[in-house]
Amino acid sequence: MFSLDLAFASPPGSAREERAGRSPIVTVTDLDIGYADKIVLRDLNFTVETGEILFLLGASGSGKSTLLKHMIGLIPPLAGKILIGGRNLATAEGAEREAILREIGVAYQQGALLRSLTLKENVRLPLERFSDLPLEAMNEVAALVLAQVGLASAVEALPERVSGGMQKRAAIARAIVLSPKVVFLDEPSAGLDPITAAELDSLIRHLADGLGLTFVIASHELSSLFAIADRAIMLREGHGLIADGRPQALRDGSSDPYVRRFLQSDARRRMSSPRSPEAESSEGVNRGLKQCLDPCRTVQSDRQGSSGGSSR
Ligand SMILES: Nc1ncnc2c1ncn2[C@@H]1O[C@H](COP(=O)(O)OP(=O)(O)O)[C@@H](O)[C@H]1O
Ligand SMILES: [Mg+2]
Repeated sequence: MFSLDLAFASPPGSAREERAGRSPIVTVTDLDIGYADKIVLRDLNFTVETGEILFLLGASGSGKSTLLKHMIGLIPPLAGKILIGGRNLATAEGAEREAILREIGVAYQQGALLRSLTLKENVRLPLERFSDLPLEAMNEVAALVLAQVGLASAVEALPERVSGGMQKRAAIARAIVLSPKVVFLDEPSAGLDPITAAELDSLIRHLADGLGLTFVIASHELSSLFAIADRAIMLREGHGLIADGRPQALRDGSSDPYVRRFLQSDARRRMSSPRSPEAESSEGVNRGLKQCLDPCRTVQSDRQGSSGGSSR
């Protein structure tokens, strides 16, 4: 086996719990985010702790994807700063920028795997960019990581030949192939049926626990949130960052009724509450929930072979 600091051995005992909450790998300070002609959110302050699964939560249009794009250096902050491992991606150039990018993994909601490349070749792309390994070694590492996400038998398959869930797994394999310090995922289970989405949640939890990876996940999927998140920050259009804490604690004890209502709406739906969450939520929450709760739409998208993720 070739050495690439892959750290694929499981951490000992309760190492994950010990790591989580110990030290921030990402520090966001006084951050304003948006586009040239539009401020989306102001004055964001939070950290991402090493070893945790942090959800960026909020209704559709609340700014989750925009925040993620700022955190991975695609869009420069309008104000404030984001430090990854103590270094500022927005101001870094040349070799320093490459070094920071080398330490983050990304899978977008859109922008799927390259269709003309096999899963192995897709997963190999970050190795080609960031490592000096010979081809044989890159292939071996890519196959190993595909096996880690349950795709050992599909290494040579083209993306269109595998299911939407398998494509998502391959996109995650590509995001983690360099053993990054932090992995950013945008709506990882979008377009998947509920069972496949739950399997993907399990995979993410397994990767966090087994490999000690840190995840930042933009999502409005409450089932995923309660299944795997250690912590959530909640964004709200026009209000900024309105909550930061453990999902269950925010759901049951947040002082902000909007936060409680948003986080309780999934349980209410499952209990067939006489009042639907849509009926008592704001329009912004509605939009998020509709995407989350419409099984026809998710199954259809999956049938259409939608897939998520690309490397940087
Ligand atoms: N490229 C862009 N240029 C200008 N505004 C954008 C762009 N992309 C998204 N927005 C706007 O930014 C806000 C937040 O969008 P987004 O981050 O995609 O939300 P979310 O991911 O939470 O659904 C929305 O009002 C959206 O219309
Ligand atoms: Mg989004």
